[in-house]
Amino acid sequence: FAHRSLAGKKILVTAGATKESLDPIRFFSNRSSGKMGYAIAEAARLAGAEVTLVAGVDLNVSSEIKRIHVTTARDMHREVMKRFSDVDAVIKAAAVADYRPEQVSEKKIKKSDDPLTVTMIRNPDILKELGEKKQSQILIGFAAETDHLEANALRKLEAKHLDLLVANHAIDSFGEDTNKVTFYFAGGKKQAFETMHKQEVATKICDALAELFETSEI
Ligand code: C5P
Repeated sequence: FAHRSLAGKKILVTAGATKESLDPIRFFSNRSSGKMGYAIAEAARLAGAEVTLVAGVDLNVSSEIKRIHVTTARDMHREVMKRFSDVDAVIKAAAVADYRPEQVSEKKIKKSDDPLTVTMIRNPDILKELGEKKQSQILIGFAAETDHLEANALRKLEAKHLDLLVANHAIDSFGEDTNKVTFYFAGGKKQAFETMHKQEVATKICDALAELFETSEI
């Protein structure tokens, strides 16, 4: 259980991988299971928040959480943007596809003996855009890295105008029930944790969010 209350707060959480079509049969995606984002949504609800979950993967979720299913990064972008002005905080746990195929074939691409070249173009960076547009909302982002974790975390915290960046080693976290995270706060504070169950990580994130609300209201 979360130790601090999020009662009265509206919180938007994103979870899981997005999928980018190549043709009617095939898509590009990543290894994100959605477990971290779903755990955060449940922890925020338990702490009393009104929670909307925009999810690229389908896991069990309690009926008090409003869930919106999305497939592509552009779907997620649209669903997050249209709700942003109405929420108090966004927690972006989703692993959004950075690229999508430039061309989506209407018919199945037939295999041949030649190599297949697919040109990938950039998707919108949802969190970066939220950072540029934010009014009083608290923004929490994730960084999954395989190397240079701290340098990348600090760079993202600043570049995306976040209040808190949760850094995790991609190899220790993707698909697992546990996660080893470090919190980097905008003010320079850093908090490193040992490996915990994703439910416990979710509770720590909600506690940190409640504290961020308290300090922003002073
Ligand atoms: O820059 P990077 O993708 O590593 O940043 C990760 C954070 O940014 C996550 O919180 C993720 O949800 C968010 N993100 C996003 N849109 C993208 C890529 C990442 O919102 N296109």
